Amino acid sequence: MPTITFVRPDGERIAVEAGNTESVMLAAVGRQVAGILGECGGSMTCATCHVFVAPEWLDRLPPMSAAEDELLDATATERGHNSRLSCQIPLSEALDGLVVELPEMQI
Ligand code: FES
Repeated sequence: MPTITFVRPDGERIAVEAGNTESVMLAAVGRQVAGILGECGGSMTCATCHVFVAPEWLDRLPPMSAAEDELLDATATERGHNSRLSCQIPLSEALDGLVVELPEMQI
């Protein structure tokens, strides 16, 4: 199972073991990681699963769709160059060790 590390805005790091079929969003919500809401359940309509991906991981993620790119313009915390919607990042062993930072706010 891949391990994902979530980094809170204050620097606290939370490592969770995630199943191979889950998205990063589901891994966070299922393990009560505060800071990821996932209000739409992954149907890409809420933008409450916004994360900042550690730069070294950006190229290893699936490409961003036009719809994800558009929704990232509606996040509560302003997007950055490394912003993604965590519901659009499916987990696999290839992402073992992924590090994502949580934004200051999701709503
Ligand atoms: S969970 Fe709603 S956009 Fe990701």
